[in-house]
Amino acid sequence: MEQELMRIGVSLPEKLLSRFDDIISQRGYSSRSEGIRDAIRNYIVHYEWMSDVQGERVGVITLVYSHNQRGLVDSLTDIQHDFGRIVESSLHVHLDHENCLEVIILRGDGQEVKKAAEKMMALKGVKHVKLTTTSMGSEL
Ligand code: NI
Repeated sequence: MEQELMRIGVSLPEKLLSRFDDIISQRGYSSRSEGIRDAIRNYIVHYEWMSDVQGERVGVITLVYSHNQRGLVDSLTDIQHDFGRIVESSLHVHLDHENCLEVIILRGDGQEVKKAAEKMMALKGVKHVKLTTTSMGSEL
């Protein structure tokens, strides 16, 4: 059954929209709307997948952020201290003049690992966050 389409208005920074348009044209989407629908579906799948992270887990959080964003480096450090019980290690790379890459390895309850990643994601100046988790070898 065809679902009714709802129309929404979205404000986006010009640069973000133009990068999005480049990608949807490379990927052959027939329209911007189609690309946005797909992006929202992916977002939902990703979020639901993250909600499914349960039990004892090893997690890797990969972040790219601007170190020029006021207070951001301190906030990221505070979060890592707050989750100090499960943070095993981190690696920092100065990518260029503006951007830093940080890889954080955690081990502990899956929901806690997820919570740490979400807190980092919510900070202004964080450009990209990826969380991957794997269960401990003994469960496999
Ligand atoms: Ni750096």
